[in-house]
Amino acid sequence: MAQQEEVFKKIVSHCKEYGFVFPSSDIYDGLGAVYDYGQNGVELKNNIKQYWWQSMVLLHENIVGIDAAIFMHPTTWKASGHVDAFNDPLIDNRDSKKRYRADVLIEEQMAKYEDKIQKEIEKARKKFGDTFDEAQFRATNARVLENQEKYDQLHERFQTVMNADGGIDLDGMKQIILDEEIVCPISGTRNWTDVRQFNLMFSTEMGAAAEGASKIYLRPETAQGIFVNYLNVQKTGRMKLPFGIAQIGKAFRNEIVARQFIFRMREFEQMEMQFFIQPGTELDWFAKWKETRMKWHQNLGFGAENYRFHDHDKLAHYANAATDIEFHMPFGFKEVEGIHSRTNFDLGQHAKFSGKKIEYFDPERNESYTPYVIETSIGVDRMFLSIMCHSYEEQKLPDGQTRTVLHLPAALAPVKLAVFPLTKKDGLPEKAQEIINDLRFHFNCKYEEKDQIGKRYRRMDAIGCPYCVTVDQQTLEDNTVTLRDRDTMEQKRVAISDLRSIIEDKVSITSLLKNLI
Ligand code: GAP
Repeated sequence: MAQQEEVFKKIVSHCKEYGFVFPSSDIYDGLGAVYDYGQNGVELKNNIKQYWWQSMVLLHENIVGIDAAIFMHPTTWKASGHVDAFNDPLIDNRDSKKRYRADVLIEEQMAKYEDKIQKEIEKARKKFGDTFDEAQFRATNARVLENQEKYDQLHERFQTVMNADGGIDLDGMKQIILDEEIVCPISGTRNWTDVRQFNLMFSTEMGAAAEGASKIYLRPETAQGIFVNYLNVQKTGRMKLPFGIAQIGKAFRNEIVARQFIFRMREFEQMEMQFFIQPGTELDWFAKWKETRMKWHQNLGFGAENYRFHDHDKLAHYANAATDIEFHMPFGFKEVEGIHSRTNFDLGQHAKFSGKKIEYFDPERNESYTPYVIETSIGVDRMFLSIMCHSYEEQKLPDGQTRTVLHLPAALAPVKLAVFPLTKKDGLPEKAQEIINDLRFHFNCKYEEKDQIGKRYRRMDAIGCPYCVTVDQQTLEDNTVTLRDRDTMEQKRVAISDLRSIIEDKVSITSLLKNLI
């Protein structure tokens, strides 16, 4: 785990050093859990968004997109339940004055028991080698059994307080923290306040005069912009069920615990799609969207073993099925996307609070009803993080040197082709620019003439550029260049006139989309 933490730290500094992600307002020492995307980060992020958008809107005739405003009528959030129930349980340590999410403190305690079990298993695996039987070891080793029992008991108590009638049992939660002797990581003390609920929505005021201003919220999810536009889109687009509305946009949450870089941010971006369906068909559609979305993730080639579903035991009162797609990050399997069967709750609530009839007339059934909804909701930033984590490698080379390379899927890479003149003279820079001028309309190209070729290759490896081309004397004679592959580092001589056809298909989003149909 310590080694993984080390790797994660390196990924975070790599993101800064190579223009992917900077702390927000860096010159003022940053702003908690808010980040800016740099020159390479924004390209990668845009490519992720394109991959998602096109997979939804281009590949499905019955899915259309919208772009709703961040500010919405305040009643939206009353109707959706966010004003009353979008809370996290919060606890303060009186000595360090630090604030924590009480549920996270307990989850971390459970993770400690799991870690202890894992360490015992790894130790035994090393000792016994091929003959090691993990199941038998788990069932018989005293230390594993002891930690497993502690874990199970804590898990059961945690489930009970989280699912108490009338919401989370806050006193019960504090009691667990005291009983487990959980200490503040800063002060090392157990001097805790009571647990209380904290609403995660940011608010501001709209209107100039203080007395005339009204309180509005920065949306904590993009989904509500889709629900309130359901009628507009259905009518103007003459959409027939089943159909979907997709949207990409910023969301804001005043997260108490903001950690792990861009995993949990206060300002982030979501890609959400609400799929409107006939009541009664929701579990079939839920299964279908689970499969479709998992295929989208696995299509990036990061290995099926790095993904898993985490089906929810505890469902929100309006949901009848929910799952997360988790990805294996350096800090464990973590949620990247949520898929929820949300029944007709949201449309029903907006109908109630707005007084408008929000229904669909089904010509086949010859009746009107409120559609049910399957939602797919993925964070752009978490997707970005999962891609960076999986792509980052410090590779030992046969000559003993090390190179840092990002094995980004070529279609998502910020720069697709780098063109280098071998030297800065003899017309080589001009020839290199000529190649770029020809190819820049088809994919993102970069010109580099500074430093030795080897150093230039390393810089391109570090930003995940899949192809580099070197222009040399021979180029001037026969219009060929050397084309170098980022992953294999192999170089081959190709005609300039073939470059586009060799590279374009491999680096286009279309190449990814083709595997999805
Ligand atoms: N409309 C449903 C919804 O918002 P969610 O599980 O709260 O569901 C969906 O969020 C996705 O948004 C998550 O799977 C995650 O990828 C992303 N997300 C949520 N909170 C985030 C945060 N604070 N920072 C970054 N991404 C976040």
